[in-house]
Amino acid sequence: MSDMKARMFNKKASSAKSKSDLIVRTLSPKPGQHVADVGSGGGHFSFLFARLVGTEGKVYAIDTDRFLLEFVKNDAEKKGLYNIENVLAEENSFPVRDENLDLVFLRNVYHHLPDRLNYFMDMSTLLKKETKVAIIDYDGRDRLSFHRLFGHYVPKAMIVDEMNDAGYRLLEDHTFLPQQSFLIFSLFENKTIN
Ligand SMILES: C[S@@+](CC[C@H](N)C(=O)[O-])C[C@H]1O[C@@H](n2cnc3c(N)ncnc32)[C@H](O)[C@@H]1O
Repeated sequence: MSDMKARMFNKKASSAKSKSDLIVRTLSPKPGQHVADVGSGGGHFSFLFARLVGTEGKVYAIDTDRFLLEFVKNDAEKKGLYNIENVLAEENSFPVRDENLDLVFLRNVYHHLPDRLNYFMDMSTLLKKETKVAIIDYDGRDRLSFHRLFGHYVPKAMIVDEMNDAGYRLLEDHTFLPQQSFLIFSLFENKTIN
């Protein structure tokens, strides 16, 4: 069942409409970098990142669903990718304690997080000032879409406001996705940690 779910996530993530190659090119992780793929689903993006960061780098595939993580583990082995660490997450806490993260990536996951302010404030205590936090989510612009009708979206302005409140500033706003916003944040320079 979870294999089916994982394959379905990967099929959607790799479709032309999803523009995953352009997303990854835009983020351009470098060899040796550390990437956290939050809500990694079937692993499509974790696999793309893993190839780019190479054997010196590391990708954390993070999900609340242990069966999806199992799928990612098996598929990574088949693909010969040994730089992916699978991490089982609680719903409301960022589980990775790596102070060398270069990129935190969330695609279609932001709307699932139950307490986004605390989630990202907690994460901010760990990140470097250069770490990019990339958030892709449905923005509800298509009023008749499934995502809009079932509340699986967050308007772009709301993401920006919430991330500002959590201590992050907007660096880049990419508009090439047909139904989703694609925003890149980093920490405010003068962030104070309480
Ligand atoms: C719509 S899927 C997106 C999967 C993948 N990011 C992609 O783009 O193909 C959402 C994923 O987020 C996971 N998820 C939901 N809430 C989560 C949370 N609080 N922390 C980590 N993962 C979560 C789900 O189990 C699911 O795999």
